[in-house]
Amino acid sequence: MKGILVTIDGPAGSGKSSVARQVAGRLGVVNLNTGAAYRAAALLALREKADLSDGPRLAALASRVSLDPDGASIDGERVDEPDLRSPEVSAAASKVSVNAGLREVLLPVQRAAASEARERGGAVVEGRDIGTVVLPDAELKVFLKADPDERARRRAKQTGREGELDRIREAISRRDRQDSEREVSPLKPADDAVVLDTTSLSLEEVVSQVLDLADGLR
Ligand code: C5P
Repeated sequence: MKGILVTIDGPAGSGKSSVARQVAGRLGVVNLNTGAAYRAAALLALREKADLSDGPRLAALASRVSLDPDGASIDGERVDEPDLRSPEVSAAASKVSVNAGLREVLLPVQRAAASEARERGGAVVEGRDIGTVVLPDAELKVFLKADPDERARRRAKQTGREGELDRIREAISRRDRQDSEREVSPLKPADDAVVLDTTSLSLEEVVSQVLDLADGLR
């Protein structure tokens, strides 16, 4: 039997990655982090000193990216997590992801990874447009949101950069703006998504709410 697909979308710092990881673990399915594909494309663009608004160039670079539950690869070679997580790559990922051609290339990459995971029992797939565009037929769609100050605090704590709270808050709101205002696949909840405000919820509380929703599907 095919497994279930749960999508978790939301802005930076909303808790997506932690929630997706834990929910996947508890459901016994894999966690697919689609942001890694955008980050890998951005890293490649930075390495190759590409113009971050050159659509055809970005699309060509993105075609060298692949995705699986362990992360992203470039030309079949795994990219190290810390390389994908630098502030430069975060900012560049948000910038390149407004490009329609690049998104078109990464769409089948994400769908293929999700469909392979579904065959093997299911997946929790996290990103920005997973419920709206990548997997509109997923069984359960969750959209996490949280107050921007709280998201900045979480990101600072998570990255051990508590002293840089203002800078992190600014970077997050810049990415929010770029992600929500872009024309192609903007960040927004799917019509049939369950929206959870995680501002005053603990990780365990959010995980348990998502698991309850998943339970309701059985
Ligand atoms: O989720 P993460 O912060 O790693 O994603 C990095 C960037 O990739 C986001 O800021 C967003 O611009 C882009 N992204 C996207 N669509 C997705 C996943 C990520 O546009 N499905």
